[in-house]
Amino acid sequence: MKILKKVWLALLVIFVLMQFYRPEKNIAQGEHTATFLAETNPPPNVKAILVQTCYDCHSNNTVYPWYDNIAPVSYWLSDHIKHGKGHLNFSEWEAYDTKKKDHKLEEVIEMVESGEMPLKEYTWTHEKAQLTTEQRDAIIEWAKRSRALYQLDQQPE
Ligand code: HEC
Repeated sequence: MKILKKVWLALLVIFVLMQFYRPEKNIAQGEHTATFLAETNPPPNVKAILVQTCYDCHSNNTVYPWYDNIAPVSYWLSDHIKHGKGHLNFSEWEAYDTKKKDHKLEEVIEMVESGEMPLKEYTWTHEKAQLTTEQRDAIIEWAKRSRALYQLDQQPE
């Protein structure tokens, strides 16, 4: 019994100490995705889906849930965001060349079609992120249209 008590106490101390390390928050002000929106011009319904279900991990601004203030959840979320942004960041669209933009949109279509994105763990806690067939179709249609424009842009003169 004594040992068990010590183990619990040690775990408690570790948990408390963990709270002192806070990963840097992913927060941007203003129109951080202006280039992306201007170039791909998503209709309002598609824009709303992207903002509500993709921006948290694929832009420079995350709307954090309250439990992000608790370690180790905060570490875990921070890791997802870093990882997601590394693959695709709508806030840094201007850094991609035309070919890459086209390719990223191709991946968006693949990920949404296969249901891999938004991540399952995310849809458990964000009900709105469980996309309906109509929502998926709207994203895919918009992405295809934007790809066609970028491809036109890539054709030799
Ligand atoms: C909870 C965080 C999270 C959310 C929300 C999210 N993603 Fe992702 N996304 C990731 C992570 C992490 C990766 C890296 C993929 C991997 O290595 O498994 C990724 C990768 C991707 C990729 C790149 C795949 C590649 O091969 O490079 C695309 C495209 C993508 N996501 C699209 C979306 C779209 C579209 C949405 C919204 C409908 C979305 N994601 C929502 C975390 C997220």
